[in-house]
Formats: sequence, C-alpha cells, structure tokens
Amino acid sequence: MAALLEVKNLRTHFYTIEGEVKAVDGVSYDLQPGEILGLVGESGCGKSVSAMSVMRLIPWPPGKILDGEVLFDGVDLLQLEEEEMRKIRGKEIGMVFQEPMTSLNPVLTIGKQLTETMELHLGLTPEEATNRAIELLEMVGIPDAGSRLPQYPHQFSGGMRQRVMIAMAMSCNPRLIIADEPTTALDVTIQAQILDLMQDLCRQNGVALIVITHNLGVVARYADRVNVMYAGNVVERGSAQEIYHNPQHPYTKGLLNSVPRLDDTVKKKLDPIQGLPPSLSKPCLCQFCGEPQPTLVEVSKDHLAARCNADPNCVGWFPRDLG
Ligand SMILES: Nc1ncnc2c1ncn2[C@@H]1O[C@H](COP(=O)(O)OP(=O)(O)O)[C@@H](O)[C@H]1O
Ligand SMILES: [Mg+2]
Repeated sequence: MAALLEVKNLRTHFYTIEGEVKAVDGVSYDLQPGEILGLVGESGCGKSVSAMSVMRLIPWPPGKILDGEVLFDGVDLLQLEEEEMRKIRGKEIGMVFQEPMTSLNPVLTIGKQLTETMELHLGLTPEEATNRAIELLEMVGIPDAGSRLPQYPHQFSGGMRQRVMIAMAMSCNPRLIIADEPTTALDVTIQAQILDLMQDLCRQNGVALIVITHNLGVVARYADRVNVMYAGNVVERGSAQEIYHNPQHPYTKGLLNSVPRLDDTVKKKLDPIQGLPPSLSKPCLCQFCGEPQPTLVEVSKDHLAARCNADPNCVGWFPRDLG
C-alpha cells in the first residue's frame, strides 16, 4: 500500500543565543492510511517540533526546517505555497494539542468554532454546519450536544474540552490526525477514555493517527507502530508489540523500565534512566562510539533499531550526559 505520510530526513533547528538547537536532526518514518503511530520519548527530544514541522508551523525566527521531505499522499508539503498548505491544515490533517484551552478561542462559542472551519473547508451552509456540529459532538460523547453549542470553552471541563478538540479535528473528514500529548493534562481515568475514543473514531473512519506521548505504556496499548525519539533522532521503530516485548535500543529499554507495565505480575521498582539527555545545542556525539547520528539497522521485519558498526562495545547511538 502507498504510504499516506512519508517523512524523509527531516531536520529542524532553532537559532538561539545558546547556539543552534538541533531539535529534529534527520528523522525518517512512514505512516500507512488508517494506521496509528506512536511517537515517544522524554520531554525535549523533538516530538512536538517534528510534528509541527509536518504541519509547517515552525515559527521563524528562531526555527527553520533545513532539510528533508514530508510527502503527504506523495506531495511534498515542504514545497507547497503557504496558501495551499492552509488548505491541508484542518482539512486533510487535523490536530489535537495537550492543552485545549490554548487552542480553543475563549471568546467564541464552541458552536461557532466548530461551524466556522466546516463552512470554510467544506463549503457548508450555516444550517448544515450546525447540524453536523451537533452530530460531531454526539459522536465524541458530549451529552445534550445541541444545547452546548452556544456555550464557551470555559463552561466545559478539561476532558470535555479535549472531546471538542477531537470533534474539531475530525470535522472536515481528515486523512490524518496529529495528537500532541492529547491526554497529558487530564487525570488518569479521563486519559483512558479520550485515548479509547480517538482510537475508535480513527479505526471507524479510516483516519490515520499520530499520537505523541512521553509514556511508552500508553502507545503500546493504542498504536500499531511506534517511533522512539531520542535527542532529535529516531533510535528505534517497529510494531508496538515488538517495541514493547523485544526492545533493542538501551533508551527504549530505559523508557520501558521507567513506566509500569500492564503485564507485570509483581510490583517492581521503576528504574529511571541514568544521566541526562544531551544538550541539543552542542554536538550530540554518542558516548560509546562518538558518532554524530544513529544508523538504523533492521532487527526483524519492520523493526529497526540504532546499531553501531564502528565500535563493537557500542550499544547503538546513545549520547548521554552522565556528569
Ligand atoms: N521556539 C523555540 N525556540 C527555541 N528552541 C525551541 C523552540 N521550540 C522547541 N525548541 C527546542 O527544541 C527541542 C525539542 O523540543 P520539543 O519538540 O518541544 O520537545 P518534546 O519532545 O518535549 O515535544 C528542545 O530542546 C526545545 O528547547
Ligand atoms: Mg512536546
């Protein structure tokens, strides 16, 4: 099957007073239509920047997409005019962010915000858009949807606001939704409900989903495939099964040891990863082999992990500040 999204050698850097921050430094992956992909890694490893680069929402200054291709249905988004890109955002690709309060407009009603995009992108009349807005809110599990349209974001709870964001992301029948830490700001029981909802809706409607999270336990449950990001690079990717049960890279193993596992029979001590991730504004060389970038090697079919050919003692590209 032809990939829906193919990211090739994406590099996005920020030019700051501390120097050039290599936030995303040569990331490649693909996503099939309808597939759920998890993007995991600790805070600051470049997850959001890689997603914002796909949407071409990197603010200049200080950020710049320096290199790479983002093929969406075979078209390189990085080459489009800004006006063409605006037709893709919100229409072909929907977005859900961590904190809906910052992406919802506080002074517009929920109804207005939902119908506006549909009138713009789908050419619906106000009445058609309102009917569809009610359908969408019902679909994401908001009770008494019609009476909630005239309400403002602050009249919704955190979980309900995130449901509204999902309704908005789905409103123009996108082919892909990018959800950046969609449940991090919510309490644990609501988190599971929202993730279940996104998974169901994407499966039912054949929408591909990229879920960004720092919790590998979460993606293992919801994703088909997983990209593990470390210091602006992908160090391992494979099916969720493989990443969870047969992790290869020491960072992936570290991530797994630092979250509770569903298949743990006894409660074990969680083991944080030693040291700090390297500063992305300094040359990011592997502590073992000194290489500046990982080389991904096939472990098994559709499972790639950073491996080192230069140094037999190297566990795979792993720059870490142990000082
Ligand atoms: N606007 C910005 N200006 C400077 N540096 C930035 C900016 N946005 C992100 N960065 C840097 O890019 C790196 C990756 O950030 P990000 O993608 O947000 O990480 P995360 O994996 O937590 O989503 C971090 O080192 C961050 O400090
Ligand atoms: Mg982020």
